[in-house]
Amino acid sequence: MARYILGVTGASGAIYATRTAMHLKRFGHDVSLIVTKPGRDVVEFEGQGQLFDYAEKVFNIDDFFAECASGSSDYAGMAVVPCSMGTLGRIAAGTSDNLLVRSADVCLKERRPLVILPREMPYSLIHIENMERVTRAGAVVIPASPQFYSKPSTIEELVDTVVAKVLKHLNALGNEKNIVPSWNNFLVK
Ligand SMILES: Cc1cc2nc3c(=O)[nH]c(=O)nc-3n(C[C@H](O)[C@H](O)[C@H](O)COP(=O)(O)O)c2cc1C
Repeated sequence: MARYILGVTGASGAIYATRTAMHLKRFGHDVSLIVTKPGRDVVEFEGQGQLFDYAEKVFNIDDFFAECASGSSDYAGMAVVPCSMGTLGRIAAGTSDNLLVRSADVCLKERRPLVILPREMPYSLIHIENMERVTRAGAVVIPASPQFYSKPSTIEELVDTVVAKVLKHLNALGNEKNIVPSWNNFLVK
């Protein structure tokens, strides 16, 4: 299967990262994890330490010798889940000043899938302009906006309605595989 980079920042919503990593692994993919320092704090604060159990590799945020810092690596894509407004701004500005931001920059320059899941409310114009900028550069911005028509009954099921979109845009779903039923199943016949 494929190898994916999962970047995790200090935005709320660490459960989105855990479920993304869990489903990538379930579908047979390898997950290389990069967590910012605030990200580690929020993962712990929100009780999502199991995130690390799903990772094949965990890279240090300051390790620019890591393979994902290079365009010659064979990663199939990257998701930043959840993405803080700080990291969004750094990606939009191309700062490449930590391994997460550098890896995102590499995905953009190599034209590999880069999925960004911003988490903030409300948005300022700066946030919106940064989302526009990364979208123009080739990233897909997927807001943490779950759907309710599948009538999710647990937080995990609700979160998975968003994670399903992340995996779809990473091309990480097999032909017959999905996490939530498609819209067709809910249409009144
Ligand atoms: C519990 C907690 C929740 C936070 N939630 C958000 C959030 O949803 N969105 C956001 O942009 N920042 C949020 N922050 C602030 C970021 O952690 C902070 O801006 C940090 O510098 C982001 O750094 P990073 O992008 O390197 O992870 C939160 C901080 C804490 C402690």
